[in-house]
Amino acid sequence: MQKVVSGIRPTGNLHLGNYFGAVKSFVQMQNEYDCLFFIADWHSLTTHPKPENIRRSTRTILAEYLACGIDPDKAAIYVQSDVKQVLELYLYLNMNAYLGELERVTSFKEKVRKQPDNVNAGLLTYPSLMAADILMHKADKVPVGKDQEQNMEMARLFARRFNRIYEVEYFKEPESFHFNQKAVKVPGLDGSGKMGKSEGNAIYLCDDEATIRKKVMRAVTDSGPTEPNQQKPEPIQNLFTLMEIVSAPDTYNFFNDQYNNMAIRYGDMKKQLAADINDFCAPIRERILAYSADEEYLAKVARLGAEKAAESAQKTIEEVRHIIGFR
Ligand code: TRP
Repeated sequence: MQKVVSGIRPTGNLHLGNYFGAVKSFVQMQNEYDCLFFIADWHSLTTHPKPENIRRSTRTILAEYLACGIDPDKAAIYVQSDVKQVLELYLYLNMNAYLGELERVTSFKEKVRKQPDNVNAGLLTYPSLMAADILMHKADKVPVGKDQEQNMEMARLFARRFNRIYEVEYFKEPESFHFNQKAVKVPGLDGSGKMGKSEGNAIYLCDDEATIRKKVMRAVTDSGPTEPNQQKPEPIQNLFTLMEIVSAPDTYNFFNDQYNNMAIRYGDMKKQLAADINDFCAPIRERILAYSADEEYLAKVARLGAEKAAESAQKTIEEVRHIIGFR
């Protein structure tokens, strides 16, 4: 079976955009591939998070991914820092990674611009750690967003370079699987663009009913259509797109007809949309709460995941040591 590896950056709670992007493709992939998903807590150290934040976000991610349908009997879900073999591979890859190429990575240059007083070596070597995560398990496919393509290219480059230096056919080049190309794009509630944490326009899977209603009712609209069957401006189209995603087709068609007949009442539409978003999120939210309260279960899932990940990691590291010339 083909192997899939992907890392989850611990950046707060999952929102609907994440759900229909990364999370949904993970949930689908676990049925078709041998999947390893991990929480990239070492990568998160580049920004110096507080210890309690690391602990909390690890628990949150585990609970939320399980609530969304990651099944620990199908996919291994583990915490990066529980599988220490990755560090050794990271060291070896760093010996063959060059300052010039690492400095040219766009996300590194961006960080240099945005946080000039914290340009640490971890940030510079982020691509080698990510390559180690992937090559460690000889992944065939890596589900990532388009923004990760340069890191993926580095992983392939490091794989090729290792093979060349040691004259082996050892690492295979991992393929990117861009989930956001195929996924439905979930728009935000601020009238433009997609849903995102940094945009502040997101509905989180853990939001309660009142919060969802408040956010939807505040969404940007206009004064209504001025002629029949008129093209919808972006803020209105976004509400319809959300409705298409979470509501029944009849509901969508009803409001769409109302729009086309210039009889639409945005207040009514938003109330319906809020109720349907809540219906969609409520079962997930309940599972998030249940998993979050069960620390013992979360610890067990992470332990079993780490055990599974350590198997292929240990095998790789022993072979790599041998290739390099160590005992
Ligand atoms: N860099 C990825 C991101 O920012 C997270 C990540 C770390 C990752 N290691 C990985 C993704 C390995 C895929 C494979 O989203």
